[in-house]
Amino acid sequence: MQKVAIIGAGRVGETTAQILAEQEICREVVLIDIREDAPQGVALDIFQTAPFFEFDTRVTGSNDPAAMQDANLVVVTAGIPRKPGMSRSDVLDTNVKVIDGIVADIVRFAPDAIVIMVTNPVDVLTYRVAQLTGWSRERVLGQAGVLDASRMAAFIALETGFSTRDITTIVLGGHGDLMVPVPRFCTVNGVPISHFIEPDTIDEIVQRTRGGGAEILALRKNSSAYDAPGASVAAMVDAISHHRNRLLPCVALLDGEYGERDVAMGVPCLLGNRGLAQVIDLGLDDAEMALFRESVASVRADIGRMTPPD
Ligand code: 2OP
Repeated sequence: MQKVAIIGAGRVGETTAQILAEQEICREVVLIDIREDAPQGVALDIFQTAPFFEFDTRVTGSNDPAAMQDANLVVVTAGIPRKPGMSRSDVLDTNVKVIDGIVADIVRFAPDAIVIMVTNPVDVLTYRVAQLTGWSRERVLGQAGVLDASRMAAFIALETGFSTRDITTIVLGGHGDLMVPVPRFCTVNGVPISHFIEPDTIDEIVQRTRGGGAEILALRKNSSAYDAPGASVAAMVDAISHHRNRLLPCVALLDGEYGERDVAMGVPCLLGNRGLAQVIDLGLDDAEMALFRESVASVRADIGRMTPPD
């Protein structure tokens, strides 16, 4: 991939840019932020790590949205983060205004790009991007499930002592308290986690995963998580950039899968060089489906709170 634009040079944007550069996932990364000099400073700092990590990816910063011109992929991290005690939905009213302006810039300067939304509430705002652009769902994705699944894998590793390399997890639904970790599909090298972990402990891991972002926020106090979120975005960009056809849980527009349409939710997605190649319908059992529907209802309620676009 030639060029990735990251809108928002805060901590998630910066971490994402560092990983994209370090791993040479693309040729060029441009960080764009309205704060004067900030994206330039972040970009220069990252580029000065090139001699250590031996990368040729160019990293630049700009206050001008035109710098995203012809980007193949745009990652949107701009907006206000939540503070301790706030839910992701609490930042919706402010962030929807920020996103509306950014989408207008993307349509103008990078009309062929794939968009990965990161700003919260990510599922609601991914829907907003789709609504405003009218682009096909192939090109409008959100990052949530990769992060939530990585948190669940980390908790399973902490509980069992197994390497995270061998742990695969899946988390569906909205990126909120009602997200749906699915233990039935979580394994240690193909062996269901129920072989190693008692049901009550699995329930605790599910709850800890749901509160994974809030746990970090409560501990850091003045910042949301950004290391794992940045790595999660980079994993999605890598899958697209290298046409890996990876099966990753992402926020995508549903078109009948899981019995839903006209909503954006976390579902297993096949990611390749065109973005979303396919949404995989897992065939949830009744209990899993009930949780998924509850999560859909909460995302729909937030979608309903947004003023319709002009
Ligand atoms: C998280 O879960 C901020 O939503 C982000 O950490």
